[in-house]
Amino acid sequence: MRILVDHSIDKKERSNIITLAGVAKAAKAKDKSVINATIGMLYDEDEKFYTFRSVSKAEATMSDEEKYPYTNTIGIKPYCDAVLKWVFDKHLDYFKENEYISIIATPGGSGAVSNTFSNYLNAGENVLLPNHMWTNYIQMAYENYLGYKTYNMFNENGTFDLAHIKETFKNILKTQDRILFVINDPCQNPTGYSLTKEEWLGLIEIINEVASEDHPFILLYDMAYIDYDIKGRDYARENIYNFRLLNENVLVVLGFSGSKTLGLYGLRIGAMIGLSKSKEAIDDFTNACQFSARTKYSMSTTYGMYLISKVLGEEPYLSEFKAELDEVTAFIKKRSLAFINSANEVGLKTLPFKCGFFVTIVCPNDDLVYEELVKKGAHIIPLGGAMRIAICSISEEHCKVLPKLIKEAIDKVNR
Ligand SMILES: Cc1ncc(COP(=O)(O)O)c(C=O)c1O
Repeated sequence: MRILVDHSIDKKERSNIITLAGVAKAAKAKDKSVINATIGMLYDEDEKFYTFRSVSKAEATMSDEEKYPYTNTIGIKPYCDAVLKWVFDKHLDYFKENEYISIIATPGGSGAVSNTFSNYLNAGENVLLPNHMWTNYIQMAYENYLGYKTYNMFNENGTFDLAHIKETFKNILKTQDRILFVINDPCQNPTGYSLTKEEWLGLIEIINEVASEDHPFILLYDMAYIDYDIKGRDYARENIYNFRLLNENVLVVLGFSGSKTLGLYGLRIGAMIGLSKSKEAIDDFTNACQFSARTKYSMSTTYGMYLISKVLGEEPYLSEFKAELDEVTAFIKKRSLAFINSANEVGLKTLPFKCGFFVTIVCPNDDLVYEELVKKGAHIIPLGGAMRIAICSISEEHCKVLPKLIKEAIDKVNR
């Protein structure tokens, strides 16, 4: 007997990442030589789960009062202050003086995405997603009664496809009066692409062309991997500073992830930050998103908020944390170079990659290749026409050998 309402009958977890990561984890528990490149979490060169020392030190000082009581839905003040300072850094004063900002704690970046989806489109409207994406966006759209359309990430030159995006904006406005556009940058999941400064400026220009009083524009800036930009944390913040160029009909929602920035995946802590030149837009953002938070999950974790307040807001944790982030970014860079060089040697084509946790290989029959790879003790994520490799979770040595294994598996499948 079916008891679900119609809308819920189609709800089946289709994002295979968590499931396949579970399979890989179980295989690795039995055999240490297994390569588990499935999940977007940091592992060290011994393929042990990576914990920031500064985070552990700060955690050791926490009292029960800072871990377990209820706090409030918006988030405790030290947390909100520390995250705003971390995200905007030296540009915070500019935005505080010239625009309106509001922050609400969320359970990870996921909470930020989901709350944005529930408040900024009407049921049945389409959110605009990249054609290579973290597939949970699609499920979140469905959960919030939305459809989706995709924009091309890359043109034929392998750079950001602004022309297609502009076209897509026009098309979407034929059927709805507003645009909710999702971009994950830098170190995009799954490609590892990062927009250049010029591409960001080009994007801002075309957003300003379409955003008007009749056509509000919501830019959901999923900045989950911002702190792993190979060009540095300051460079990434320069792109945020350029949001000052957006017109008053644009609302930016920045999705901060404590999972990715601080390695606190299971603590479920993040934030959504609204930024706009319109006071009304930000007052509405605070009211509606606070309401969504209160009704969906009541509040975010006290433990996560106090821990992050300390690491991002107090010395000596902050300085040590920054130094550790630099170390991590350097070891991920080494892994990516090892992987890309080896992929080039064996003739594997990757999607345009700049930096970060993932590399994606173009691969028809990826499901069959996945099966072959599992037989050889290597686990990746098949994406449908491509495969995502989480270089964040495997050693440099495994980054070197994996492309050869993938090539052999592809050859076997196509024989
Ligand atoms: C692109 C992207 N956005 C958001 C998230 C959400 O992460 P969390 O909710 O753990 O912060 C992830 C997690 O993998 C991601 O890859």
